[in-house]
Amino acid sequence: MNVCVIGTGYVGLVSGVCFSDIGNRVTCVDLDENKINNLNNGIVPIYEPGLKELVIKNTNEERLFFTTDLKAGMDDADIIIIAVGTPEKESGEADLRFVEAVAKSIGENLSDYKVIVTKSTVPVGTNRRVKSIISEYCGHEDFDVASNPEFLREGSAIYDTMNMERAIIGVESQKAGDLLTKLHEPFDTTVMVTDIETAEMIKYASNAFLATKISFINEIANICEKLNANVMDVAKGMGLDDRIGEKFLSAGIGYGGSCFPKDTKALIQISGEVEHDFSLLKSVIEVNNKQQQRLIEKALNRFDRLEGKNVALLGLAFKPNTDDMREAASIVISEELVKHGANIKGFDPIAKDTAKKVLPSEVMIAESIDEAIQDADIIMILTDWQEIKDLDLNKVAALPGKPVIFDGRNCFSLDYVGQFDLEYHSIGRPSLVE
Ligand SMILES: NC(=O)c1ccc[n+]([C@@H]2O[C@H](COP(=O)([O-])OP(=O)(O)OC[C@H]3O[C@@H](n4cnc5c(N)ncnc54)[C@H](O)[C@@H]3O)[C@@H](O)[C@H]2O)c1
Repeated sequence: MNVCVIGTGYVGLVSGVCFSDIGNRVTCVDLDENKINNLNNGIVPIYEPGLKELVIKNTNEERLFFTTDLKAGMDDADIIIIAVGTPEKESGEADLRFVEAVAKSIGENLSDYKVIVTKSTVPVGTNRRVKSIISEYCGHEDFDVASNPEFLREGSAIYDTMNMERAIIGVESQKAGDLLTKLHEPFDTTVMVTDIETAEMIKYASNAFLATKISFINEIANICEKLNANVMDVAKGMGLDDRIGEKFLSAGIGYGGSCFPKDTKALIQISGEVEHDFSLLKSVIEVNNKQQQRLIEKALNRFDRLEGKNVALLGLAFKPNTDDMREAASIVISEELVKHGANIKGFDPIAKDTAKKVLPSEVMIAESIDEAIQDADIIMILTDWQEIKDLDLNKVAALPGKPVIFDGRNCFSLDYVGQFDLEYHSIGRPSLVE
């Protein structure tokens, strides 16, 4: 099949690459000339395990192409996938500017039948709007629209796409449903065909539910701290019940990233528009906002003042295996530390360059963990990268400043930390004080 993917970001690039790898001819289109030139030279703009290799392989085998020319990209396509960003407006609502602009451009260039699929996360009703924009600009209705929400996780996006647990396809015609089912056949996955509104809602409901699990376990963690219980064991015990499941029950400093924060707020807006007050989800967001401040609270309880303290922030990306820092806890935490007058050195194995752009200018970015912690009074662990989980605590215990560790991701077992002469505070577990 010939596929055109519009928007070559985390979702568009990964989807385009994977669709080409299973044998389709894929053209990825983006407005960003620099990005497209780089991709044409094998330079991948984002860090995602396995992505670069697949870009090079499929480009060399002439199944994968990159262009800024939308018309050229869509002319031979059977399927056009919209994968542009849907950021959050100030009001929390999803900003559909990019989706609508793409719909207009598709309409201006659409001559024969194609299925136009929205992969971007969009509020219920958006695909109908996309349909009306396209037909307004092309002057006919010889096309179908479909919703195919994306569930990949940054950091394991290639794996998640190649091994997708389900493909949700929202359509209003059998022809579009059959074509999209065929596109997904090589993934050997469960294909669920629904109406368009249901597919759009499945995406928001899924993300809202996962965010709810995280805020739930974080609230349990905060109670565990007061009762001397261990939240990791509580979560393990809960997860043994397969009605609950063990996943997404890791207590920490809350969720971030490009999806959960904006999608939960957008769902509250969507509910508000139909006069439903989604109070549960409002609490989930409130809990998460507070949770991102937990390490600061703990440090203030321990030290009273953070002015002049040397703080090492380990892990700056919103989660491991990505360089994405959208809504990362490191942003809120470093802004707060700057307000308190702390001296901050941050380290991340991959997101250093992004960090230099998005963190306050007062944050120094270290080249290694050793450089970040060498004169630290406080170490805050914000992302559970493997390199950080492998940190040699012997080395930390031997540092002149005897830094106190505040672990926001529960990277170490208490038994392990207990072997060292260290003060250690984590989330939802008793503190270890020398
Ligand atoms: N990132 C994720 O983990 C993830 C997971 C599931 C769903 N989603 C959803 O997928 C969508 C895309 O997210 P992302 O993280 O890939 O976004 P992104 O910001 O990384 O990429 C969007 C790309 O679209 C391009 N673009 C914008 N307008 C364009 C136009 N008119 N023509 C061509 N290209 C254009 C931009 O230049 C950019 O490269 C969002 O709706 C998001 O909510 C994201």
